[in-house]
Amino acid sequence: MIYFDNSATTKVAPSVLETYTTVSQKVWGNPSSLHNFGETAFHLLEQSRQQIADLLGAKPYEIFFTSGGTEGDNWVVKGTATAKRTFGKHLITTAVEHPAIHNSMVQLEELGFDVTYLPVDKEGRISIDDLKAAIRPDTILVSVMAVNNEIGTIQPLTEVADVLKQYPKIHFHIDAVQGIGKGIQEMIMNDRVDFVTFSGHKFHAPRGVGFIYARSGRKLAPLMTGGGQENNWRSGTENVPAIAGMAKALRLLLTDETEKVARERAIKQRVYDHIKEFNKVTIFSQPTDGFAPHILCFTINGVRGETIVHAFEDQGIYISTTSACSSKKHLASSTLMAMNTPEAIATSAIRISLDENNTLAEADEFNRVFDKLYKRFSKINADA
Ligand SMILES: Cc1ncc(COP(=O)(O)O)c(C=O)c1O
Repeated sequence: MIYFDNSATTKVAPSVLETYTTVSQKVWGNPSSLHNFGETAFHLLEQSRQQIADLLGAKPYEIFFTSGGTEGDNWVVKGTATAKRTFGKHLITTAVEHPAIHNSMVQLEELGFDVTYLPVDKEGRISIDDLKAAIRPDTILVSVMAVNNEIGTIQPLTEVADVLKQYPKIHFHIDAVQGIGKGIQEMIMNDRVDFVTFSGHKFHAPRGVGFIYARSGRKLAPLMTGGGQENNWRSGTENVPAIAGMAKALRLLLTDETEKVARERAIKQRVYDHIKEFNKVTIFSQPTDGFAPHILCFTINGVRGETIVHAFEDQGIYISTTSACSSKKHLASSTLMAMNTPEAIATSAIRISLDENNTLAEADEFNRVFDKLYKRFSKINADA
């Protein structure tokens, strides 16, 4: 089995699962309980927070645990809108965000907020001039993803940060769900960013846990109100086993990051070099620094994405149409549509997404299967 669908989710690392199980069995007290048992859970929770903060160069009181990327994105968008609504009702984002951002923005528009969706070029990247032109006196948030989940474009986060230094009151948010561990931490944890979203299951932690970074001094209204956990910012009993596992997973992810990124880049390059020789293949992700090392999106023109996915699956190779959320709905890739790609192509796109455990031998096997399937698909096309 070859698993090339790591942007959808990753396999929980064995040592992370061990932490999860041990904590579930031995430290299952509620961290808010007064007794010793609760204290132990509280201590572990705070230790995990400190570990995550240290890994990101943040302060522990700037880390808030969530249920994952979707919650983090919803929270920053809606929490900013609520907290800053008396200062302004204008938000800026990109036309290629994950639905967790996009649909939060749409919901705010229905409530009377005004949203600018920055257009992208043919590589899926925003322009800094467009950003500058979009900023208004009533702008309260700029939200830009680090790495696009469908084609892997890295957005110009450093330049966005530079622009926003002239607007200290605007909240700057980065969705880093696909960007962490991909060699761009300095761009993400830059000196201007206010909020960053992370999701555990994209880096070998369990499903249903994540966190946001929130710069000290910045205010968000809570999305989850209740018992006042997380310093009154995010209520709900903390998932201590998953959080402890996530802290470990983040440490593992960031150990030897440079070598892991280089390995992923080499695998992507090997597949890229192979498939680019076929005349019916259109590739959207480049093997350059402007794209993440782990995502390669392409089409075999005229063949539907799900047909390709199932054909590879029959050969024991797991890939996906462009995003896990849209794949079962048979939707065109929203990123490719925003890049003005014709709809027929945008519905045919497929994505391979790597992690640090994939190998060049797997790339060779993928290429071998690709040749076989391409021949079969070309024949079908020719007969049609
Ligand atoms: C860029 C991006 N943001 C947000 C999310 C949502 O994260 P989660 O699955 O943890 O809710 C995803 C998931 O694929 C993503 O790729």
